[in-house]
Amino acid sequence: MISRGGTILGTSRIDPVKNPDDITRIKCVIEDIDIGALVVIDGDGTLRAAQEVSTHGKPIRGIPKTINNDVFGTNATIGFDTAVFIVTEAIDRLHTTAESHHRIMVVEVMGRRSGWIALAAGIAGGADEIPVPEMRTSLGEVCLSLDERYRAGKNFSIVVVAEGTRREDIAGISVPECDRDECGHEKFVGVGTVLSKELERRLGVETRVTVLGHVQRGGNPISYDRVLATCLGIETVHQIHAGNFGCIAAVQGNRIVNVPPLNQSCIGQRESIPMNIYAQNRWPGSTHKYRFC
Ligand code: F6P
Repeated sequence: MISRGGTILGTSRIDPVKNPDDITRIKCVIEDIDIGALVVIDGDGTLRAAQEVSTHGKPIRGIPKTINNDVFGTNATIGFDTAVFIVTEAIDRLHTTAESHHRIMVVEVMGRRSGWIALAAGIAGGADEIPVPEMRTSLGEVCLSLDERYRAGKNFSIVVVAEGTRREDIAGISVPECDRDECGHEKFVGVGTVLSKELERRLGVETRVTVLGHVQRGGNPISYDRVLATCLGIETVHQIHAGNFGCIAAVQGNRIVNVPPLNQSCIGQRESIPMNIYAQNRWPGSTHKYRFC
């Protein structure tokens, strides 16, 4: 199993604790089949559901696993680095066409309301602009910066955009109904196309969009994710033997720790991208938008 990535257990995408009855049903199943410990492995939505059940005295622990890397209280989530690797490789491949045809290549990547994948893969792939949901995007500034590149003799650009970037900032339009699910939640599709059209219209440079989509969520995990998953799993088993529930096994710095985001104060919070890396500062002579501090 160690070489398999993505969602492999056949789990649903349905919120298991939407109605008050759901908790009772889950509690009954745990009791009926005598589950001694339940390990919930996923992102913030699922861990929130786990927290709900945990407050009813059930023996639950969590393991953070999402390509979005936005689970509060941990620096790493299983799957993130593999997704970044996949996106970085795709950007490398897109450079060929960008350079030969003098185009702007827009790459839309996943992450929901978080810009972690865009930022990490954008930096690794040498992107020129990286719009993310955590920052308001000024399309004027993006165009200015790309235009500066052309003036400086570069005849192509790579733009990595996070799927959750606000469309209002890009084209002054909100999310259309057809891009919402039956609960009215945004499906996070299409911002790359909107951005690509706007860039072409404003800059007069031929632009293409690549939406990487679910390619980022499957295939073989890179070694880092395999080791991370193994370490978090081992820690979880140790903690279960010690009778410690209501926590997730997390990474802080380079240590595996146990944090309680299965508690009320952390639920609903999101681990944000490091704003000091994503500084909007430009310094003389540079067209680069971010810098390391
Ligand atoms: O939460 C992980 C994630 O891959 C997001 O980055 C993405 O927006 C979403 O899942 C896609 O979900 P679905 O497969 O339901 O379209």
